[in-house]
Amino acid sequence: MTQRSPHPTRTPSTRTRGQRAARAAALLATLSLPLALLAPAAGASASRAAAPAADSAPEGPRLRDVTDKPVGTAVREEVLRRTDDIGARYRQTLAEEFSMVVPESELKFNRLRPRAGAEPARPVAADYNLTLPQPILDAAAANGQEVRGHTLVWYRTNPAWILNTAYTGDQLLEIMRGHIAFTTRRYADRIDTWDVVNEALDADGTLREPCNPDAPAAGAECGRSGALSKASVWQRIGGSEDYTHIIEAFRAARKNLPASAKLYYNDFGIERSGPKADGALDLVKRLLAETGETSDGQTRPLVDGIGFQAHLGVDWTPAYVADFRANMKRFTDLGLETQITELDVGVDLPVTPAKLEVQKRVFHDIGRMCAEEEACTAILLWGFSDRFQWIGEGWPGQYGAATVFDEEFAAKPGYFGFRDGLTLPTPLLTASTGRR
Ligand code: XIL
Repeated sequence: MTQRSPHPTRTPSTRTRGQRAARAAALLATLSLPLALLAPAAGASASRAAAPAADSAPEGPRLRDVTDKPVGTAVREEVLRRTDDIGARYRQTLAEEFSMVVPESELKFNRLRPRAGAEPARPVAADYNLTLPQPILDAAAANGQEVRGHTLVWYRTNPAWILNTAYTGDQLLEIMRGHIAFTTRRYADRIDTWDVVNEALDADGTLREPCNPDAPAAGAECGRSGALSKASVWQRIGGSEDYTHIIEAFRAARKNLPASAKLYYNDFGIERSGPKADGALDLVKRLLAETGETSDGQTRPLVDGIGFQAHLGVDWTPAYVADFRANMKRFTDLGLETQITELDVGVDLPVTPAKLEVQKRVFHDIGRMCAEEEACTAILLWGFSDRFQWIGEGWPGQYGAATVFDEEFAAKPGYFGFRDGLTLPTPLLTASTGRR
């Protein structure tokens, strides 16, 4: 296994805000988006600060301005494109508060590449829905926001043309390689951090396997999806107990991206210690034990980072957060960087002021943890308004209200908790250098 220093050079985190803004400003030159689609600060990232504050903007600084680490959110193109007042408020909050975005579903395989094309393993642009994520990329450039890539290989959201064809494992391997090559190269100048593989593990930390209809208690997702398989079609590449498809996915991403790119394994339920976190640790060790060549001819271990989705709830006690931090250290001790990739804090409905106070503490504690841990290089919310968010949509009337802005884009207590958590007390100037 290749030994790595505990804190390798990290391109995204070492990039200063000024550099990030310059990068975004350079991208602006390539924009062709109608101004109506952009945030009120349309024109240049530098002009963002000059934009009039929203009438409903919370008192104090914006989230993106309290830390040098990227603070991000998932974004939906169909909301971004809305021409009504809701769309305008969505765009304004997005532009003002966040320094990073991740397309919520627009880069997923079935949405981005719904067509097999003439040669499924050698896709061309016509096989892709390239217009789908474009409004998000354009708005991000206008707002000076980095873009995170989610996701290249997942057991969900695969297109019908894959699921309904009896491809052999070898054919699927070539299709996966072709998709990764096209997608990473297509967006290489915009996206340098990718969730290469998402959610490959079962709750017990082993690779996914089909639900056993005779033992539905084996996994909560079996209960929701009946007897449907929750294994990944990509596991056919090497057999269901084989990590080959994961290793090959990372190798393909490595090969098509420069050495500066950051390749992540991303999952939920690995925040606290336990069998699934152990399984993820085992998985990233396997990836660290292998190297691959980058598009610019360098040799790198196959993985750079671990993404903790962090779909949390108001049951999250301070002890859970402490456990999360200790567990995170097991990964960063391997030399990995880490990101909180999909933070939300669900509430059992109805919402009460007391529950919102607990939610505030959880947002605070997770924000503070990432702000304090050097190896935590970004923190992203999975949506920023209760109006548009998967938790409330998935459990209507039961569970939801999981974000920091309410349905009218007014800041909830959680917003202020999160901002306070991200805001570290100013360190003393050191006498010798005068620098922090
Ligand atoms: C979810 C989206 O938020 C939903 O809108 C969509 O219907 C399903 O996918 N983990 C992930 C995300 O990695 O991609 C999921 O996003 C939420 C759970």
